[in-house]
Amino acid sequence: MKRFQHAFSPVAFKSLTLAVMFALPTAVVAHNHSKAEDDQHYALPKSATAQDFIAIFKEINGEHPGIRKAHARGVCAVGEFTPSTAAKQRFTSPLFQVDNAPLTLRFSMGGGNPNADERRGARGVGIQFELPNNQSHTIAGITSPVFSGATPNHFLGLLQWNLKMMRGEATREDVQKFMAAHPSMQPAIEWNRGRTASAEYTSATYYGIHALWANTQGDAQKFRWQLVPQAGEKNLTKQQVESGPQSFLTERLIEQVKNDGAVTFDWHWTIGAADDPTNDPSAQWPADREQVHVGTITVTSAGGEACTPINFDPVRVARGIRPSDDPVLPIRSAAYAISFGQRLSNQ
Ligand code: HEM
Repeated sequence: MKRFQHAFSPVAFKSLTLAVMFALPTAVVAHNHSKAEDDQHYALPKSATAQDFIAIFKEINGEHPGIRKAHARGVCAVGEFTPSTAAKQRFTSPLFQVDNAPLTLRFSMGGGNPNADERRGARGVGIQFELPNNQSHTIAGITSPVFSGATPNHFLGLLQWNLKMMRGEATREDVQKFMAAHPSMQPAIEWNRGRTASAEYTSATYYGIHALWANTQGDAQKFRWQLVPQAGEKNLTKQQVESGPQSFLTERLIEQVKNDGAVTFDWHWTIGAADDPTNDPSAQWPADREQVHVGTITVTSAGGEACTPINFDPVRVARGIRPSDDPVLPIRSAAYAISFGQRLSNQ
């Protein structure tokens, strides 16, 4: 059976399971089990470790020594960050204390396939901010505002059912039934319904998904971030998805910064209210929450290897910022460390 891409939200499952997920509400279920039997059959895995993820990424995508075990296809870039006055005044982190902080970025395709078809699937961005006194701040986000489930176990379960389907040990209906059995997987499915992938790395909005905390002069505030392209969002047409080239994102980015000049994103933080949960990456906060424009991120050149020795671990944050209790964050951190170590030692 053909290998498929995977990544961290249903967007990234497009090449294999998108049709499945979109058919979810009307899916015909082939099984003749009782509800109790189904509940057990489609239960979440009891545990989900970073090692489980690395192992299943390799089973799904094959071995690619020296390459990231997820977001395998991508391109390095460099740029700079200019914080807004509002952010300088409100937050105490050194992240906002200097103008023109140097950035190392990497734009990527979701999934562990280094030759991923770029017409479909989530795009990702990792950014390391270089701050005074050898400090740094790291973020990594994707083009979906929600994760495909409330916990790492949801995501591992989805990967397991997809792997079984790849091997002919399960059907599409099984994957659908697994997702239908776990309501926190629905927001990501809904968000992706009918949406095509971005036309360029720089015409997508990227979302940090998780909640973090930022210190202010008063109480710390919870926030979630989005990186919005100043030139606006642009998605592929249905025709480009059907018959366009499979590889264009890196070429376009290099051409853009060379010919069109720097590309700029606005960095916005959504400030959570007191009772907005910080531990559920599958659920967005209400749309009326306060937005703070915290600065602009400018990409000045692309290509090269500047991002190769960087682990874009979203838990490596500057002073004055701290991770929340989102259960996906510590698993990400551990999985990135394993992948980072393996790829730098050509495993
Ligand atoms: C259980 C959940 C997740 C696991 C196990 C996981 C695992 C990984 C791994 C192993 C890598 C490769 C790291 C490296 O070799 O340097 C990676 C890269 C990446 N992940 Fe995740 N991830 C998860 C969730 C997420 C989420 C929720 C997002 C978005 C908010 C995300 C965005 C990215 C991005 C953008 C990259 C590429 C970073 C780069 O360019 O080096 N991941 N992930």
